[in-house]
Amino acid sequence: MIVNTELEQKGNLFPSRIIKFQKDVDTLYFYTENNVVLQLTVLRDSVLRFRYTTTGTFENDFSYAITKYASTGYNKLEITENDDFYTIITSKLKCEVSKKDGRVTIYDVLTDQIINQDEIGFHWEESYEFGGNIVKMSKTVNERESYFGLGDKPEHLNLKGKRFQNWVTDSYAFGKHTDPIYKAIPFFTGLHHGKAYGIFFDNTFRSYFDFGQERRNVTSFWAQGGEMNYYFIYGPKMETVVENYTDLTGKPHQLPPLWALGFHQCKWSYYPEAEVKAITSKFRELQIPCDAIYLDIDYMDGFRCFTWNKDYFPDPKRMVKELADDGFKTVAIIDPGIKIDPEYSVFKEALDKDYFCKRADGPYMKGKVWPGECFFPDFTKPEVRDWWSGLFKELVEDIGIQGVWNDMNEPAVMEVPNKTFPDDVRHDYDGNPCSHRKAHNVYGMQMARATYHGMKKFNYPKRPFVITRAAYSGTQRYTSTWTGDNVATWEHLWIANVQAQRMAMSGFSFAGSDIGGFAEQPQGELFTRWIQLGIFHPFCRVHSSGDHGDQEPWAFDEDVTDVVRKFIEIRYQLLPYLYTAFWNLVEHGTPILKSLVMYDQEDSQTHYRTDEFMYGNQILVCPIQEPNAKGRRMYIPRGTWYNFWTDEVVQGGKEKWVDAEIDSMPIFIKEGAIIPKYPKQQYVDEKVIDEITLDVYYKKGKESSQLFDDAHDGYDYTKGRYSFRTFKLTGKSNELILQQHKEGKYEATFKTFKLNIHGLPFEIKEIQLDNETISIEHLKVDGTIAMVVDKKFTEIHLIGA
Ligand code: GLC
Repeated sequence: MIVNTELEQKGNLFPSRIIKFQKDVDTLYFYTENNVVLQLTVLRDSVLRFRYTTTGTFENDFSYAITKYASTGYNKLEITENDDFYTIITSKLKCEVSKKDGRVTIYDVLTDQIINQDEIGFHWEESYEFGGNIVKMSKTVNERESYFGLGDKPEHLNLKGKRFQNWVTDSYAFGKHTDPIYKAIPFFTGLHHGKAYGIFFDNTFRSYFDFGQERRNVTSFWAQGGEMNYYFIYGPKMETVVENYTDLTGKPHQLPPLWALGFHQCKWSYYPEAEVKAITSKFRELQIPCDAIYLDIDYMDGFRCFTWNKDYFPDPKRMVKELADDGFKTVAIIDPGIKIDPEYSVFKEALDKDYFCKRADGPYMKGKVWPGECFFPDFTKPEVRDWWSGLFKELVEDIGIQGVWNDMNEPAVMEVPNKTFPDDVRHDYDGNPCSHRKAHNVYGMQMARATYHGMKKFNYPKRPFVITRAAYSGTQRYTSTWTGDNVATWEHLWIANVQAQRMAMSGFSFAGSDIGGFAEQPQGELFTRWIQLGIFHPFCRVHSSGDHGDQEPWAFDEDVTDVVRKFIEIRYQLLPYLYTAFWNLVEHGTPILKSLVMYDQEDSQTHYRTDEFMYGNQILVCPIQEPNAKGRRMYIPRGTWYNFWTDEVVQGGKEKWVDAEIDSMPIFIKEGAIIPKYPKQQYVDEKVIDEITLDVYYKKGKESSQLFDDAHDGYDYTKGRYSFRTFKLTGKSNELILQQHKEGKYEATFKTFKLNIHGLPFEIKEIQLDNETISIEHLKVDGTIAMVVDKKFTEIHLIGA
């Protein structure tokens, strides 16, 4: 009989005393008696990387998440030592490493305030089943600390008191609290004492985060393999944390084409061709703006990727061209499962070239998806990704598909309990061979990456557009995303709202939900309220399974159609504003949606709000999320705001009832904002824009606004052919001054700005345009004051008596 085996005694293991320290430029090594090494790299003054090994040697340093474009470099690096600690000082942080046990404490160097502190810190358990370690980290929860982020969790925005898992999972009809679902983004932001920091745990194994659930004063994270490898990112502004995380894991590689920011219509599935045409024609007939129409799996021949069902679509190239002539881009779905069919060229080629994933003992990984039994390309192998990219030649270059939709790439497998590959499946992992335990969370990301490269190549000189369901940190470099198979319920409207905000604060702004719900069918009222929210999401698409009826804007009653049209028109009018927000995302990693806590982290009222959010920098939105509502209570953040519909001025810093009948929703504009608007269009670039409206909201004081413009597609903007305008507004009690500064070489088509002045507290007696007095007859006063000026103006003074 075996009693008290060693196995039973094994549990948590800890680093012992540090006995040696070494510095190699920006990287510090701390060696303990028991062979643990902490490798601490100073990436920037505010970004530190912590990496631990328990064997004395590190694994090959390879990450799919970290981009080669990440910024590095610091202003200051000082290391001192006393009996108890090593102390590392940068211009932003002070970091102490305890000699006794390697525990770490990080301070704001300016205030000496603790920002983040190891509780027991790094520890581990040996994994007897698989080898290697279960690596763990525990941190002390600070007083009134809140936690945000983690990608697509359908949970309250503030994660405090909860535990989560990261393992990308096909989650049809998931619900509030379902965990995990489609994405694995092991990055969170902590906020306490008005200061925010982030932790990105770059480990692709199944990982867990516990924000004070198990023990109220401890936040911990761990993974079922790999290394304890995390980045600490200091703000202290939440927005800066997210920008720095995005810098590390990548901004989108280019701007989306402007059409991709229009409205998209999708269904599983529109076919045959006549049905697709009937849908697109109806949009034009009813004058509901729309830019993209989707082909779901039924366009294929027996669900074989890169084929067409010729009965339904006899001449796809002609159809795609006709749709394009009518202002529609065609987006087609491509799944990872390749049908086992020796007659099918894609299957044959991948088999010949040995591109399919295999089980540990040799056989191919076989699983059922839509086409029946399939094999699956190993997208973690560079050669396979290249091959996959090449498969898009015909679809994109020849047929003219403008967007590719990658689905089921968790990878989803049907009729098996774990919904995906078994753990033993082997992957190349870019030359670091491993099992599915390690590659699972990046499989979909690598598929989307390969798709992106194919799209980019064959669509050149136009920009690629890709959408993916599965994602790991960094996927935002290549593609947009949606939140998967939701349900047509009011609760899911709430979920869609928090998910889009959470994705934005997890570095992945280009996201949206299946508007109206994928499963089941919404009532007209729910559909309307969902459209109202959806037009403020960076990705705006109606999609449904089609099992329960139609979900086009006209599928309900006429009132619904009218309200839906009105809101989609607002999206199209605000396109220059949204495009400017995308420019800030691509340039600086600035999230497009900002939850109130990110907008004003110092106001503790915002820390537990979920519904209200900022769309870009200056528009505050709050969806109606309940039936039969005539309005709602909402929190208006500190500052002064204009009601978008009525121009009523409201003071923030409090909750307020806001009227919103079914044809309205709470929208507020920050005072001093200058909001650029296009005329209504049925699709992007339908019209040559010759005038942009600027809605100017008077403020006593200063505010600055921006407007980015370029050719709306292509890469010229990367060579300086863009225009970036900064507008400075200065309001006094009897004067309003607008100044414009333009950067960039692009000459836009528009010639004039039409200024609509809101809330001016004085009567205009004199107007000076670039130092010349012009007649006030130029003013139109019908509710708002409006005037048309040359787009090149540099300074306008509106002067009162
Ligand atoms: C999955 C997708 C859904 C798609 C369907 C058929 O359920 O999430 O969007 O319509 O597959 O392709």
